[in-house]
Amino acid sequence: MRIVIATSEAVPFAKTGGLADVTGSLFKEFLRLGRDVYLFLPLYRVIRNRFNIRDTGIRIKINLGQRTVEGIIFTTDPDVFFIGCDEFFDRDELYGTASGDFPDNAERFIFFSKAVPEALMSLGLKADIIHCNDWQTGLIPLFLKTIYNNDFFKKTRTVLTIHNMGYQGIFDASRFNLTGLGWEWFNMEGIEFYGKINLLKAGLISADIITTVSKQYTREILSPDYGHGLDGVLRKRAGDLKGVINGIDIEEWNPSTDSFIPEGFDHEDISGKRTCKAKLIRECGLSIQKDAPLISFVGRLSRQKGIDIIAESTERIVSMGAGLIILGKGDMEFENMISGFNDMFKGSVHVRIGYDEAFAHRVYGGSDIFLMPSRYEPCGLGQMIAMRYGTIPVARKTGGLADTVEDYNPLSDSGTGFLFEDYNPTSLICSIRLAVSSFSCKDRWERLMKRAMKKDFSWKRSAMEYLNLYDSLCLLQKVSDFLETPEKKG
Ligand code: ADP
Ligand code: GLC
Repeated sequence: MRIVIATSEAVPFAKTGGLADVTGSLFKEFLRLGRDVYLFLPLYRVIRNRFNIRDTGIRIKINLGQRTVEGIIFTTDPDVFFIGCDEFFDRDELYGTASGDFPDNAERFIFFSKAVPEALMSLGLKADIIHCNDWQTGLIPLFLKTIYNNDFFKKTRTVLTIHNMGYQGIFDASRFNLTGLGWEWFNMEGIEFYGKINLLKAGLISADIITTVSKQYTREILSPDYGHGLDGVLRKRAGDLKGVINGIDIEEWNPSTDSFIPEGFDHEDISGKRTCKAKLIRECGLSIQKDAPLISFVGRLSRQKGIDIIAESTERIVSMGAGLIILGKGDMEFENMISGFNDMFKGSVHVRIGYDEAFAHRVYGGSDIFLMPSRYEPCGLGQMIAMRYGTIPVARKTGGLADTVEDYNPLSDSGTGFLFEDYNPTSLICSIRLAVSSFSCKDRWERLMKRAMKKDFSWKRSAMEYLNLYDSLCLLQKVSDFLETPEKKG
């Protein structure tokens, strides 16, 4: 079975968030299992600058409305391909800047979604499964049923994984003609969405199987509160919708071998974490008490992540004597909201605006408590990474957070974190207070840390679940081939 993963980001090549971690580590896990798997990405500037890429010499021509745009196929490893088109991808950022999305994102990802099947044909790579991810590749399943409904893709089945319903690739209807689809697709049953076009919807109506990244989120998105306007479409496809929980790359996120942190540790000997904490406090210029809890947040600064309720809670966190570190990058509104905190809460709060992989490792390694008060969270990787580093999550009970964090129960001395339900600063603060008071009881806290660190968040099980889904699709394909044969002969 040949698998192709099409994605707009993947570790180690290009990353803005968890999507990259997931596609990158899933690809790596399939390779480890000896699977026939290929990865397709746009060739962003960051990839060109950091990796030794080779031009395959293959050129593809992509129709975008009135014009034809050339794509160049590059490669690094034999199973990784990049679609080059400097006009669209030779930029510092992947999707936009703090002030907003790039205005030509429709062109960029309609191009990419046509370029993947074109490249597969040019390379002669017949795929059994094309695994698409989010709106950026949402058109691929529909293209395979329309423009690329040909012999080459006859046996190809598609999987679309929804990593986030909050991002759908909604564009003005004037962009519809770039797709090359017939007007019969511009209606409620097609990709039309309140007079615009919706590229995630394209995948939802046409992929053979739809998955999302936790069991809880699979249930949530069928309701209007979490469906972002597409819950009706999803309900129609509920029979083809599956939840496969994400894992984390346990080699990259390993506190005993992590070269970014000053001293290694594991669940048998957590003493190294003390050094990590002390150095982190010094690095961030904090002047909190030696035994005060160190609380942190690492993530995209967007509405989804609950940064507004963290901002509203900061004064109360500081008044508990705790230190707070925030590492994030994202919407200007939230960057502005917290950028003055370093001066306002000098010695207690350290805010770093930016994307910084190495610092993120040091924050996970050196903190005691990790905040994830998300409005919604399809899966969330931060809480799993934090637990692996013995950093206890305080998280809202939603989506993947509810699936992966087990609420602390002081009576039975069980659980791996602190969960709260209502999205407001008061509930967040209550949960933080509970965590902070538990932190002062060292023995119990150590047991809590060790339980969290021992949790298995590796990709092993989830990768197998995806392989089982692919197998079931291939089996269905074989059955339909079998059923078709006598008819043809007759
Ligand atoms: P999402 O995909 O919604 O952004 P996840 O929790 O699934 O959230 O994944 C976020 C990933 O991105 C984690 O690996 C996290 O450590 C990383 N990350 C987010 N923001 C930053 C940042 N500013 N600097 C470094 N790493 C970051
Ligand atoms: C998304 C979600 C996050 C998830 C990640 C990887 O960006 O916001 O919850 O972990 O994708 O699936």
